[in-house]
Amino acid sequence: MSNEFYAPGEQRAAKVNALFARIARRYDFLNDLQSFGLHRHWKRRVAALAQVKTGDRALDLCCGTGDLAFALARRGAETTGLDFSPQMLQVAINRSRKSGAGSQNENPQSAIRNPQFFQGDAQQLPFPEKTFDIVTVGYGLRNLTNWERGVEEMFRVARPGARLLVLDFGKPPNAVWRAVYFTHLRLSVPLIGRLFCGNAQAYAYILESLKHYPAQLAVAEKMRALHLKNVRVINLLGGAMAINYGEKSA
Ligand SMILES: C[S@@+](CC[C@H](N)C(=O)[O-])C[C@H]1O[C@@H](n2cnc3c(N)ncnc32)[C@H](O)[C@@H]1O
Repeated sequence: MSNEFYAPGEQRAAKVNALFARIARRYDFLNDLQSFGLHRHWKRRVAALAQVKTGDRALDLCCGTGDLAFALARRGAETTGLDFSPQMLQVAINRSRKSGAGSQNENPQSAIRNPQFFQGDAQQLPFPEKTFDIVTVGYGLRNLTNWERGVEEMFRVARPGARLLVLDFGKPPNAVWRAVYFTHLRLSVPLIGRLFCGNAQAYAYILESLKHYPAQLAVAEKMRALHLKNVRVINLLGGAMAINYGEKSA
């Protein structure tokens, strides 16, 4: 059965934009529900792996409502969040106005500033090369028309020595676990979408997009092809989620 939010090729961006415009206001709540709150833990893990140092500049692509951007800012990075959805960005900006990243400073050595949020395309970044010490993307690469182009852009704007991190749904290497997990994505996640968002298709999109995304192993391959150092795959929940890590050579 085709998914109203998944389209191959150039129509993809418009469909993805329509999807996030539709779910933006409930996105955080539904994320908690479908991951049993675990996404918060995984995002903190990404922020820790980024090894923020005082004065670092961080870029979070496909930042959505800003979780990773806020996590990096709390660790003391001067952080920019970029997303192409005005509706998702509006939630991030509202959070920024309400909370203030400084209220939960995780790095007492440094002054905290809220992230700056910009609208833009992750495949065509409006930043010069070698601008950032940290470049992250959480649950974003899978949504791009061309995920490899996204990694190339991350690499381009990264300074020598920068840490690049990708968090996304993965493909578990164990066939039995993969079948159980894909069943959860096919049945329970759309049910949550239907009950709490009035739209099952929006959440069925996760499985649809994952089918077309080569996941953690291919991202690691791409990082190696770009000659990143210390390339690692950190499998979470047996590979159902994964963090890809690599460093740009100095
Ligand atoms: C699943 S959400 C992830 C949000 C956030 N990073 C998180 O982990 O909660 C995916 C985000 O990617 C954004 N996105 C998709 N394609 C994009 C593109 N080409 N450029 C910028 N943002 C994009 C969507 O608007 C959406 O906010």
